[in-house]
Amino acid sequence: MNKNMAKKEILRLREKINLHNYKYYVENNPVISDFEFDILLKKLEKLETEHPDLVTSDSPTQRVGGKPLDGFKTVKHKTQMLSLGNTYNFDELREFDERVKKHVGDAEYVVEPKIDGAGVALLYENGILVRGATRGDGIQGDDITLNLKTIHSIPLRLQGDKLRNVEVRGEVYMSISGFKKYNKEQEKNGEAVFANTRNASAGSLRQLDSRVVAGRPLDIFVYCTSYPDKEFDTHDETIQVLRKSGFRVNPLTKKVKNIEKAVKYCQKLEKLRDSLDYEIDGSVIKVNSIAQQHELGSTTKNPRWAISYKFAAKQSTTRLNDIDIQVGRTGAITPVAILEPVKVGGVIVSRATLHNFDEIHRKDLRIGDWVLVERSGDVIPQVVKSISEKRTGSEKQKSIPTKCPVCGSDIVHPEGEVAIRCPNKQCPARLKWRLKYFASRDAMDIDNLGGQTIDKFIDAGLVDNVADLYFLKKEDILSLEGFKEKSAQNLIDAIEKSKQQDLSRLIYSLGIRHVGKYAAQIIAMKYNSIGELSKASAEDLEEIDGLGDKTAEAVGTFFATEENIELMKRLRDIGVKTKEIKKEGLPLSGKKFVFTGGLTSLSRPEASDLIKKQGGLVVSSVGKDIDYVVAGEKPGSKYKKAKKLGINIIDEEKFRKIVQK
Ligand code: IVH
Repeated sequence: MNKNMAKKEILRLREKINLHNYKYYVENNPVISDFEFDILLKKLEKLETEHPDLVTSDSPTQRVGGKPLDGFKTVKHKTQMLSLGNTYNFDELREFDERVKKHVGDAEYVVEPKIDGAGVALLYENGILVRGATRGDGIQGDDITLNLKTIHSIPLRLQGDKLRNVEVRGEVYMSISGFKKYNKEQEKNGEAVFANTRNASAGSLRQLDSRVVAGRPLDIFVYCTSYPDKEFDTHDETIQVLRKSGFRVNPLTKKVKNIEKAVKYCQKLEKLRDSLDYEIDGSVIKVNSIAQQHELGSTTKNPRWAISYKFAAKQSTTRLNDIDIQVGRTGAITPVAILEPVKVGGVIVSRATLHNFDEIHRKDLRIGDWVLVERSGDVIPQVVKSISEKRTGSEKQKSIPTKCPVCGSDIVHPEGEVAIRCPNKQCPARLKWRLKYFASRDAMDIDNLGGQTIDKFIDAGLVDNVADLYFLKKEDILSLEGFKEKSAQNLIDAIEKSKQQDLSRLIYSLGIRHVGKYAAQIIAMKYNSIGELSKASAEDLEEIDGLGDKTAEAVGTFFATEENIELMKRLRDIGVKTKEIKKEGLPLSGKKFVFTGGLTSLSRPEASDLIKKQGGLVVSSVGKDIDYVVAGEKPGSKYKKAKKLGINIIDEEKFRKIVQK
């Protein structure tokens, strides 16, 4: 293909990809399959590799950047990014309307949800995204263009010609479901979690490596323009134009005739609040006419034509009675607030996570303090701040522990991490976590081996590591309180049975950092045995499609450690299945399955095992690359998503046929 033809084809492909990207990420209504989409993208990538001079910054291939940055450049906004004045009741909102009326007469309003995320400004020149920045102090912010480009609902090139040179403003947020999933995964890997969705979005945008940002479930709603080539008559029209230009605008945005209608709509939004998959902390009421907006102008901080109505916070005050210390599976030490029980948004709260000691220090929390407790988006309760005015002088500071509260080892503070850790791998607290993890349903699935029994084993000195479980004798178990002949035998049988679990379960159950269920499956697909796996270097592992660098490194390190080598040897010698010869070309090789809803004829772990035995993979969330979604009874949101994406949805009967073939 000559250059001219290549150029034409590149432009044609980009236009097509942009259109389908928009349909998928903005309209939530894809019209081609993921496979077809990938083919378009691959074609474009190929042509751009052959003609690197034709690569432009707005090409859909440029969404994920290359090397991490050393720091962010500071950039000046086109016009100041103002913040909003707040009202907390409807009378204050009516007073705002009075002020508006006094200056410009009767006004129509637009009411929007106030998204609780991070404000950003997107600068377009000739229809191309040239810069994206944080709000910063309102005058200047950080240049986070590469990070913002990873958000697929931000157009790299504007559709149509209504807007060409413009700064568009909006709020980047993390969905509540995405946030919970992210934190769950972090917690499982012993990594820091975000306190709320706001921190999650702001924190993600501050990452220097855009590839990290690309993995975070971020999205955006845009809500106004600044510095447009042409102004529209009303805010409502601006919103419509933004929508037509390829942006995601909030579907709950509504034009109302007067302030009473605005009040009604604010009440409606507040009712809707808990049903949304994103956090809103209020609504924003904006004068609709742009001419009236100009007439009203702004103060140094806030526009006079817009105001927010803040929803009742899901907050309460109570006493911080104590700060407890927990040692996690990876040794991470987490302080936990022990609170005088209090009702927060309808739920009694008596404990709240404090995340880490930096946080206690930053919030200056002292034992005995009155504190403000918050629950947002049915997420774990948080201590927001202490109420220092209520101090009597008897409050006590909690010092950072220097010794592990469980085993007494000297605590370490690894560089670059916020968490402090107990470095003792044999610490009973860590051991308990590790064993519970090993025996859990998704891991070796040992029936009857719950947390309390494990505590008893460790306290009695019967087990020091997971391999010791397999050396337990019935008499050992009978020597513990609460066990009889039958229950002891059942437990022995269950432990014995778990020796035959498949390789992916064994890999998962070792609790290697970053190795979740999916990573364990793809590792087990590549290696036939623990022996083979332990010889693999991090570089070998990095070659596995879908396995991140951090995971590869963690696996490499795990199997290079002396005590883990010894542990693997003992597991193998006692008869735990550490080898699985895979027949080539299994019927479901590489096929990805997702479950939603309840199955009736078998359990999820059983169904997963059937898939894995035939070379398939079980994935937890629906994405473009899923081959089958198995819908059982009362399927959830994954079903809807699969339907939207046009993925093959099968019922339990069809599933059985596929796996029994
Ligand atoms: S309008 C001059 N609309 O709230 C207009 N802001 O406290 C200022 N926000 O910095 C912004 N949702 O980051 C507007 N629908 C919405 C919003 C919204 C969230 C944020 C934005 C702003 C802050 C104001």
